[in-house]
Amino acid sequence: MSVVSVLNYKGGVGKTTLTANLGADLANRGQKVLLIDLDPQSSLTFTFYSADEWARDLAPSRTIRHWYDSFTWAYQMKELFPLVTTPPTINKLVQANGGRLDLIASDLALVDVELDLAAILGGNRHQVMHPDYVKLYRLLANALAADEFRQYDVILIDCPPNFNMVTRTAVVASDYLVVPAKPDYLSTLGIRYLRERLGKLTNEYNGVTGAEWINPVIVGVVFTMVQYAGADLLVKLRQYIAQLKEIEVPTFDAMLRESKAVFANSGDGGVPAALHSGLPANVAYDLYQLTSEFIAKTRI
Ligand SMILES: Nc1ncnc2c1ncn2[C@@H]1O[C@H](COP(=O)(O)OP(=O)(O)OP(=O)(O)O)[C@@H](O)[C@H]1O
Ligand SMILES: [Mg+2]
Repeated sequence: MSVVSVLNYKGGVGKTTLTANLGADLANRGQKVLLIDLDPQSSLTFTFYSADEWARDLAPSRTIRHWYDSFTWAYQMKELFPLVTTPPTINKLVQANGGRLDLIASDLALVDVELDLAAILGGNRHQVMHPDYVKLYRLLANALAADEFRQYDVILIDCPPNFNMVTRTAVVASDYLVVPAKPDYLSTLGIRYLRERLGKLTNEYNGVTGAEWINPVIVGVVFTMVQYAGADLLVKLRQYIAQLKEIEVPTFDAMLRESKAVFANSGDGGVPAALHSGLPANVAYDLYQLTSEFIAKTRI
């Protein structure tokens, strides 16, 4: 079982779209996949559940917020596995191929969890000195070490667009990191910063006596919303790829082209675009290549 976080500081770069489609495609290829929505915006959750289903079945007690709260409020950790749900519509499709796609849902109140976790560490930026530092950063890693999670081939975590406490618990739990980015100059700058912060977190964490070592590997940057119109695209892409190489961040060969027609409502009906019938051939090709390269790079 591999744990993979999909993250980037920048908002709106396609993290959730990538998580949902990669997860769906892997499940459709027969894998057992668990998605974890760590973003209070809950877009991943609403890719698979309607607002009504969410309000009725998930919000009262089955979102990741309840689990973090059990730590911050009671210091009495709940089990994580009982929060796992199996969204019905997509699973009707993928089970024919022997796959499964499960989800741990999110909710807006996860915003407050950030504040609560930071408060436990005194709310300052030199948290590494705090006695609860490791305990808190390992919350998710420890929970995912439970036996029940071994049934999955891969766990994909959709992170919020920040590097706050909840995102860090995901990084510490991860074997691999995937970084979606738009092919533009600001995004490459953002990745440089992200690279530094990841390095700092890993070093600080591994420097704390008694902490189990972590080594989350950046599998690569996936360029998303790529517009193939315009002659200078390849020149620019080469520049960005070279800039990322300089800071030792690899890139995927596979890219996701921009297609508002496909992705704008891709969660409608509980099934991400990757499994829609009538998907345009070029988008289907992108998604197929992406999943194949992901499997090859992570060896899941
Ligand atoms: N390849 C694409 N072509 C066109 N639109 C896309 C593509 N990928 C994502 N989008 C759209 O762009 C918007 C942002 O995508 P998404 O929600 O996946 O980004 P995100 O990084 O998860 O955002 P956030 O940081 O807010 O969580 C969504 O409306 C989505 O439908
Ligand atoms: Mg998102």
